[in-house]
Amino acid sequence: MNADQMKQIAAEKAATYVEDGMMLGLGTGSTVFYLVEAVARRVQAEGLQLTAVATSSRTAKQASELGIKMIDLNDAPTLDLTIDGADEISADFQGIKGGGGALLLEKIVALNSRRNLWIVDESKIVPQLGAFPLPIEVIPFGLAKLTQRLEAEDLHPVLRRQANGELFLTHNKNYILDLHIGNIPHPHVLGEWLDHQTGVVEHGLFLDVAKTVVVGHPAGPEVLQ
Ligand code: 5RP
Repeated sequence: MNADQMKQIAAEKAATYVEDGMMLGLGTGSTVFYLVEAVARRVQAEGLQLTAVATSSRTAKQASELGIKMIDLNDAPTLDLTIDGADEISADFQGIKGGGGALLLEKIVALNSRRNLWIVDESKIVPQLGAFPLPIEVIPFGLAKLTQRLEAEDLHPVLRRQANGELFLTHNKNYILDLHIGNIPHPHVLGEWLDHQTGVVEHGLFLDVAKTVVVGHPAGPEVLQ
């Protein structure tokens, strides 16, 4: 079984956590794509009344085309449940997100949600964070100076580009630096340091955010909480 099939298994299980009348947060990525399909099927089949906020225009378009009512976060009360993918999750549920570049909107939506659930294939569960390069969203102004500061801290920043070689731009027209750290033994210490670096808009360390993780295995979904 390939990773995509395991993502689908996790997404379909997570869709069962959605209840009638909920205010949902919808993440971004290939796993969330399957989630949106599964939630939309429940809306059709069971007539669930849902309202949702998306973390990217891609998710918003897919969800609204499938009949899920989408609103702006500013018009939403506290979200009942946000379901999102992740790039790495450690045993104590700390996560790296932002592989798709939507980390800023994802973090804002996550922090405005009563409950966060992550959906991943089994390869994303790791003993320690850091093998996946940690994305940080940065302001274009002064990029070279910030890059030097990160290099001096041995954080090995690499400016993200698209497949065609053009610079990757976030929803807010910022850049992404991917930090090739290798091992993050103390994510809270690193997260706090990054929080204080002027020019860093947000980082992809999602710490103490998710209480539930649904992992897709070939044998079926596993719920960790
Ligand atoms: C986007 C994210 C995604 O949730 C993360 O990259 C996982 O993506 P996928 O489900 O495609 O593996 O953080 O910014």
